[in-house]
Amino acid sequence: MRRLEGKVAVVTGAAGALCSVMAESLLRDGARVVLADLNEDGAKSFQNVLAEKGLTETMTVKANVLERASLEAAREKILAQWGRIDILVNGAGGNHPKGTCPAEQFTEGTTLEDSFFGLDLAGFEFVNKLNFIGSLLPSQVFCQAMLKTGGSVINISSMSATQPLTKVAAYSAAKASVENFTRWLAVHLAPVGIRVNAIAPGFFITQQNRFLMLEPDGKTLTPRGQKVINKTPMHRFGDPKELCGALNYLVSDEASFVTGIVIPVDGGFLAYSGV
Ligand SMILES: NC(=O)c1ccc[n+]([C@@H]2O[C@H](COP(=O)([O-])OP(=O)(O)OC[C@H]3O[C@@H](n4cnc5c(N)ncnc54)[C@H](O)[C@@H]3O)[C@@H](O)[C@H]2O)c1
Repeated sequence: MRRLEGKVAVVTGAAGALCSVMAESLLRDGARVVLADLNEDGAKSFQNVLAEKGLTETMTVKANVLERASLEAAREKILAQWGRIDILVNGAGGNHPKGTCPAEQFTEGTTLEDSFFGLDLAGFEFVNKLNFIGSLLPSQVFCQAMLKTGGSVINISSMSATQPLTKVAAYSAAKASVENFTRWLAVHLAPVGIRVNAIAPGFFITQQNRFLMLEPDGKTLTPRGQKVINKTPMHRFGDPKELCGALNYLVSDEASFVTGIVIPVDGGFLAYSGV
């Protein structure tokens, strides 16, 4: 089914692990897809991979989701080439060691520097900005191109938004902001037919979190990985392709009365208290 025929989708972070899979899925559903990433080489090599599969309705743009001028230049390039923007996937984001603290809890013997008290503010701000402002600013820039036609925005949240994971303080706060902002913007833009929703992925093994979830042999779970699996009723990690059903539904006309929601794709993680 090619539900997105005629639509143009912008995917930020499209060179990344999850968003590359989402971009491919939008293409297979008929959309023309803009692969927008700070890492232009990564976007270009992914474009080549797609072309080898016969998926050629793509363009790449170098875009920094934290820089308005770069996003506006990307928007103008897209409008000059394809004349419209219908879908925005705010995929660029992620965690960074700079915004985390090594200790899960403050117990006897925990040093100040390993705990909340040692969190580097600049690191916290970096992660918070990338995930939150990195969704807000592209929405400001790209949604302007949807004001006459309507459109659909997808933000990418995380389990951490509602159940903050230990250590990742900045990331959790940022994703909570992303979910709140999703509802706020959905209300604000509803009269002009722009729908705003989010997907909250559970746990997917990617370059960013592999070292946290798996031992160097690539198979054995780390203690943290084991905790994740124990708390996931389906007892496995997700496959990035499993995000695409929710994505393609939310951006399609089948979801024409759906706005301001967050769909968890998590194997039941959020539903389970762990007991
Ligand atoms: N991997 C997971 O298990 C998981 C779980 C929940 C949520 N998420 C979220 O999914 C999204 C994608 O995650 P991923 O694992 O695919 O990440 P990734 O690190 O594989 O990809 C992120 C991409 O964003 C790009 N990027 C970084 N900074 C940028 C900037 N300033 N401007 C433009 N592009 C920039 C990078 O070049 C990279 O291509 C993120 O928002 C992440 O927080 C991931």
